[in-house]
Amino acid sequence: MRYSLTIRDEVFANRVMVASGTFGYGLEFNDYFPVNRLGGICVKGLSLKGSLGNKMPRITETYGGMLNAIGLQNVGVATFIQEKLPRLQDLGAAVIANFYGNTLEEYAECARALSVDGVKALEMNISCPNVKEGGIAFGSSVEATRKVVEAVRAVTEKPLIVKLSPNVADIRPFAEAATLGGADSLSLINTLIGMAIDVKTRLPKIANITGGLSGPAIKPVGVRMVFQASQVTDLPLIGIGGIMNRDDALEYMLAGAAAVQVGTANFVDPCAALTILEELEAYFDDNRIDLNEFVGGVKV
Ligand SMILES: Cc1cc2nc3c(=O)[nH]c(=O)nc-3n(C[C@H](O)[C@H](O)[C@H](O)COP(=O)(O)O)c2cc1C
Repeated sequence: MRYSLTIRDEVFANRVMVASGTFGYGLEFNDYFPVNRLGGICVKGLSLKGSLGNKMPRITETYGGMLNAIGLQNVGVATFIQEKLPRLQDLGAAVIANFYGNTLEEYAECARALSVDGVKALEMNISCPNVKEGGIAFGSSVEATRKVVEAVRAVTEKPLIVKLSPNVADIRPFAEAATLGGADSLSLINTLIGMAIDVKTRLPKIANITGGLSGPAIKPVGVRMVFQASQVTDLPLIGIGGIMNRDDALEYMLAGAAAVQVGTANFVDPCAALTILEELEAYFDDNRIDLNEFVGGVKV
């Protein structure tokens, strides 16, 4: 398995995953391509009780990206396990359960509940900017980051990916704290907090007033943060943020990402992640490049 990636004791078949919140629970996309081709499907962020999310409008397009404040709408852990997970298993999908909590205890309870057969890894979101408690309260304090990761680590043997926030002055202490807390991998970045105003109505374009900026506009921030994180941790890094094509993915890999997640691109083209995967594999094959040497290979 030349392109596989091992996180803790789980082998992911390749390096291209889809980012949470941009691929639903993965099921509808199987109409476009076999979703079991993907290295991993990060499902929409799950919480213990589920959530209806924020008021509409929740999405607006911006230059080179979009702002969203969905507010972590989700079906809840129990419904996910009963209704979505079996269907994903039938499809042979590599399921990564993205989740969040409002308290340390909720994080731990969610992780425990999601540590079931069919879930290949957990991705804990400590970085959502769009709900009052949902993660950012943890993800913007170094101490709280370590504590919440420790609390989750204590209750699960599943590979644990910690998703970091870019809304901090320096990503390095956060990468260190998550590593010390017991993470097996770090994924970065989540969205950057932004705002857009309709000049005619003078109203914010999304009801939540602020939202998370994603898409090509944020790629340089993501690449920089992956590079900086790679300087302080040996954990496999998963690069996220504005990956629209093969070269964007390669850029993240040169910065130090062992794998990538494709997000906003899925809204433009539901097959984007598959195309990127196939083009990446061809790139490494045709040029006889060793992927493991390539990762972190930026000449600085
Ligand atoms: C509509 C939307 C919903 C999202 N929902 C979640 C979520 O539930 N959990 C999470 O960890 N990240 C969520 N994200 C963040 C993405 O997973 C990703 O980190 C971010 O969009 C940057 O990648 P991109 O520029 O490729 O979209 C969401 C992003 C978008 C655009």
